[in-house]
Amino acid sequence: METLANEMTLIYSFSHHTANACLFPVCALHHVAVTTVEGIGNTKSRLHPAQERIAKSHGSQCGFCTPGIVMSMYTLLRNKPEPKMEDIEDAFQGNLCRCTGYRPILEGYRTFAKDLNCCGRVANGTGCCRSERENSMVMMSSSLFNSSEFQPLDPTQEPIFPPELMQKQLCFKGERVMWIQPTTLKELVALKSQYPNAKLVVGNTEVGIEMRLKNMLYPVIIAPAWISEMNAVQHTETGVTFGAACTLSSVEEVLRKVVAELPPYKAEVFQAVLEQLRWFAGPQIRNVAALGGNIMTASPISDLNPVLMASGSKLTLVSTRKLLAFPCDTEGSGIVNSPLPWIVRSGQNLKMEGEYFSAFKQASRREDDIAIVTCGMRVLFQDGTNRVEEIKLSYGGMAPTTVLALKTCKELTGRDWNEKLLQDACRLLAGEMDLSPSAPGGMVDFRRTLTLSFFFKFYLTVLQKLSKNYNGTVSAAREVLQSCFTKIPFQSCVLLQEVPRGQAVEDMVGRPLMHVSAAKQACGEAVYCDDIPHYENELYLTLVTSTKAHAKILSLHIVTCVGHIIGAVLADTQEHSRRAAKVVKIKYEELKPIVTIQEAIEKQSFLKSIKRINKGDVKKGFEESDHILEGEMYLGGQEHFYLETHCTLAVPKGEDGEMELFVSTQNPMKTQEFAANALGVPSNRIVVRVKRMGGGFGGKETRNTILTTAVAVAAFKTGRPVRCMLDRDEDMLISGGRHPFLGRYKVGFMKNGKVKSLEVSYYGNGGNSVDLSYGVMDRALLHLDNSYNIPNVSSVGIVCKTNLPSNTAFRGFGGPQGMMIAECWMSDLARKCGLPPEEVRKLNLYHEGDLTHFNQKLEGFTLRRCWDECLSSSSYHVFWSCLAGALVHVYTDGSVLLTHGGTEMGQGLHTKMIQVASRSLGIPTSNIYISETSTNTVPNTSPTAASVSADINGMAVHNACQTILKRLEPIKQSNPKGSWEDWVSCLIPDLGYDFEKNEGKPFCYFSYGVACSEVEIDCLTGDHKNIRTDIVMDVGTSLNPAIDIGQIEGAFVQGLGLFTMEELRYSPEGNLYTRGPGMYKIPAFGDIPTEFYVSLLRDCPNSKAVYSSKAVGEPPLFLSASVFYAIKDAIYSARKDSGLTEPFRLDSPATPERIRNACVDIFTKMVTPSGFTVCSLASLPHMECVCWSQWSRSGIRAGWEGRLWPCLSRWFLFHGHYPSFNMPPNERQIHRPALLGLPLQEGLPYSINEVAVHPSILQVLSIEQKH
Ligand SMILES: Cc1cc2nc3c(=O)[nH]c(=O)nc-3n(C[C@H](O)[C@H](O)[C@H](O)COP(=O)(O)OP(=O)(O)OC[C@H]3O[C@@H](n4cnc5c(N)ncnc54)[C@H](O)[C@@H]3O)c2cc1C
Ligand code: FES
Repeated sequence: METLANEMTLIYSFSHHTANACLFPVCALHHVAVTTVEGIGNTKSRLHPAQERIAKSHGSQCGFCTPGIVMSMYTLLRNKPEPKMEDIEDAFQGNLCRCTGYRPILEGYRTFAKDLNCCGRVANGTGCCRSERENSMVMMSSSLFNSSEFQPLDPTQEPIFPPELMQKQLCFKGERVMWIQPTTLKELVALKSQYPNAKLVVGNTEVGIEMRLKNMLYPVIIAPAWISEMNAVQHTETGVTFGAACTLSSVEEVLRKVVAELPPYKAEVFQAVLEQLRWFAGPQIRNVAALGGNIMTASPISDLNPVLMASGSKLTLVSTRKLLAFPCDTEGSGIVNSPLPWIVRSGQNLKMEGEYFSAFKQASRREDDIAIVTCGMRVLFQDGTNRVEEIKLSYGGMAPTTVLALKTCKELTGRDWNEKLLQDACRLLAGEMDLSPSAPGGMVDFRRTLTLSFFFKFYLTVLQKLSKNYNGTVSAAREVLQSCFTKIPFQSCVLLQEVPRGQAVEDMVGRPLMHVSAAKQACGEAVYCDDIPHYENELYLTLVTSTKAHAKILSLHIVTCVGHIIGAVLADTQEHSRRAAKVVKIKYEELKPIVTIQEAIEKQSFLKSIKRINKGDVKKGFEESDHILEGEMYLGGQEHFYLETHCTLAVPKGEDGEMELFVSTQNPMKTQEFAANALGVPSNRIVVRVKRMGGGFGGKETRNTILTTAVAVAAFKTGRPVRCMLDRDEDMLISGGRHPFLGRYKVGFMKNGKVKSLEVSYYGNGGNSVDLSYGVMDRALLHLDNSYNIPNVSSVGIVCKTNLPSNTAFRGFGGPQGMMIAECWMSDLARKCGLPPEEVRKLNLYHEGDLTHFNQKLEGFTLRRCWDECLSSSSYHVFWSCLAGALVHVYTDGSVLLTHGGTEMGQGLHTKMIQVASRSLGIPTSNIYISETSTNTVPNTSPTAASVSADINGMAVHNACQTILKRLEPIKQSNPKGSWEDWVSCLIPDLGYDFEKNEGKPFCYFSYGVACSEVEIDCLTGDHKNIRTDIVMDVGTSLNPAIDIGQIEGAFVQGLGLFTMEELRYSPEGNLYTRGPGMYKIPAFGDIPTEFYVSLLRDCPNSKAVYSSKAVGEPPLFLSASVFYAIKDAIYSARKDSGLTEPFRLDSPATPERIRNACVDIFTKMVTPSGFTVCSLASLPHMECVCWSQWSRSGIRAGWEGRLWPCLSRWFLFHGHYPSFNMPPNERQIHRPALLGLPLQEGLPYSINEVAVHPSILQVLSIEQKH
């Protein structure tokens, strides 16, 4: 990411903008000064305060996101040296981090804010965390860094804009594309007649995506960004006119000023545009994307087009120097299909008195996400009345272009603004804003419900404004309208135990030592795999992968998933190899794929090992129970979304098959083994090097081998270095993720909620190969109790074989899935008993000394302590035995080079290992250096995964140091002043568990944590807001509290994504739809709890791991289930208002769609439920029927009579109209022939070939006329 300074004469003088490097065309950088993260500071001379503060506040873990975040902060500081906390939060709307959980970044940068102090609490008047600390008797700390050490910000020291860049006019010619940048409108028009097919590009945020992801090529590009008319802003009597190349940020800035100056009634539209822009992409996009680009893309989910359309804004178009005004309200497509698509200006109108305007948008994630449904709504009342003179309702997301609800608006004109109008408007909209069950984008019921919810919000907003006449309803309206997204300043606090008094200052264990690479990461100096300089003769490899989920490649072999690697193309550059790979044609003979767990169960497509854990007598347990509850829960998978995608560089050494592999992997040993096998050479010829990873989370434990072996083979065959780094979409397509799970349960319990008996079946979607699926399933079974004592258990774990890419390890392995299903039945049984879920949870918690369902005794059980400190759901986690190694070189100058078997991916492992070695050897950490992880220094390493790396590698480091100390003993004796001490201990115990006998000790120790979360849901749109989370976590005696808290927060936020947001969507043919950040949403800055408090349980040393610590990488992930179940509780409460009190099914993740659909109300009942199954009726007799139609009060009704279905001899087709609310449901929800595009005629016989069947509804999909 860069920050750009340019000269936009009419709006800015010199200003600074962040931009996405991947979308910004290099040619457009002419006249622009580019500042990169390397340009603002470095570790050799001076870090910029924006770099220093993120590093010292522990806001950089793997560091891959850090330069982007630093540049967002730097740009804000350049434009506003004294920002408010809200400015800081807004500046990060377009940044993502997968490691930190965002809190430490916000905390570090809060030190620049002028309006808040250390924790942000003062703003709410509840006092500062520091003052609490002072009152406390215990040696606790609430700070992980000391802000008084930070350098002050001095804006006068920043670079100036280079004067030589202040000129214009240019043309660049590349291999395939010519880029022309005209400077006048005249030149633009002339160029357009010279190159009629030229593409206009301003921000490139749309065209860039088309070229990168959709393989489009535009040989001539005209960039009008420097034409003054296209950047001008005009304020007129009737409104504001913007040049079409005005960026969205500049539009925002101008409108903010205008709104501040106008009376509120005149600024309604501008306010609505501002509201849409607030949630429009991130600043990096808004800084470059233009208003004209958004209009002309005519995307069905454009955020601005519905506003422009409903507000009656006008466009000015130019062709051969003629300017034409064009209204925006003619169904968008009119503009796009116009032969004059050169927008010069877009004008927005001022509103008059008696006129009201609102805009709404619903997306999967609030920040930086495209809309699911969006709208602009305007109403004008007759003078001094509440009678509608004119109304315009415009929707995006409901058709291929933005649409006006013309019929509804016509019907509402002349009506009074009251309940009756609301009811009729919803009925009409439900009919007019319809979608076929197979509409692109899916979520059909949700989208249709949103159209009504939005209107209801608009209705109430207007009612509120007309409040003088409608006092009674106004307060209710205010409540409904209160947005989940009113900005509340972020607050947070951490609490940790300080090191004991008297611990030597040079003993760094237990201190919040900064991540050893943080400063390098913040300056862009940290080297990742793809940063390794290019070798001479290097080739680039692009994979060729299957586009079919299950198919036979003619004359080759079978492919078993979309993304199955078929071959690869090698070329001199990345660009050439990618281009070549795109033209490879493959002929398939398609076979039927199995995609879902349900399909696999139906076809009994299972991987062979089926595991069971049984305890007690389940049958007897059920007999003794007061109640029995049965149900099922589905948990979707999760994409790792490490910021650094898979990357490998293979360098053949020219002798005896020797090869050096630079790989982003958690598992150097497996990588070495697989490459050696593929090349047919012994392992000792292959050296795998891992400097660091830009995140792994389990996704680089085994799956990197599919890329690494291909790259190694290519390098071996050609004898030349070969490199490949996957694009995000390739990575998501190929590499698999967390296993989706289906849990079916039957639980027996007493009236007071005490669980007696549990029967549970877990099905995991393993994909097309075993990979680590058995291990994941074992872990799920071992966690099926979460933290509850269940006397009788019968469980089975089955891995389904499907035509998806193989799923693999992901933080927590199968633990989160196993525990999530336990929480599902626990929460439902509490509802069934009519008791508060937390009471029932506490009642069932284990006690010290209890035996788990796998017969392991619980010792050192701190969960109840955590519970008492936190009061909510709980979790535990565990360990098993692994191999590890360490190599410690001591140089004559006293410095130490340390190498161990774990890999650094941002989790701070290297830092911890330095701390361990520092104490073991009794020397300062500054003497110790870790260069990289490599198989030639530490062989047979275990994957860096499953939270055990600090334990096992720490022990290995410790042991290696001990050996050295022993060897040094004679020297020490001859020189008693030497300070190195001898250490003795060996912690890795014998572990193992026998599923058949249900005996053994699968885990060395347990980790405990409790989280309590508070959420708010918007029952109308399905949005939710994480208001507050408190976590108390037992990490033993922390090796490094800063890193441990970072791990807790990072894992928690990753779990938040898993359980509330991240949804992988596949087509029925096994094609992954969600292949990038545009479609797949991970939590952003704005998604973390507004109040986020994390404490480490004090005084809980763990005798079973290094220096009494505990592992922390994975266990806290599950604590985010507290958010899911808080949402479920909120939905319970909303359903109660509709008279629904029984337990209901809520699958994970709890997306806006699932939340809205579960909040059943009058609006959800008005739209057709989906969940249809398509049936061919060819085999059934009596398929004939006669079409008829009749007039009714609700409009034309078209229908069918015949003998189509034994139990349904008659049903109706509603021709674009829905009947009144009191019609029986089976008569309301039928398909319209209009969507079939068939000219159906009354009285003619038709035969119906295919219908979609729902439990209570039929929809006609294909019809033929009978002759
Ligand atoms: C990460 C990301 C997030 C996004 N989020 C949103 C969002 O939240 N809401 C939303 O609505 N959109 C969103 N978009 C889409 C896109 O950013 C907007 O549509 C943007 O306004 C396009 O402007 P641009 O200048 O970048 O267009 P470009 O890519 O430069 O051009 C887009 C199209 O418009 C044409 N065009 C541009 N200017 C003119 C003109 N003056 N006359 C005629 N034709 C012209 C071009 O020829 C091209 O066909 C997002 C895109 C990205 C990449
Ligand atoms: S530190 Fe942000 S992605 Fe790793």
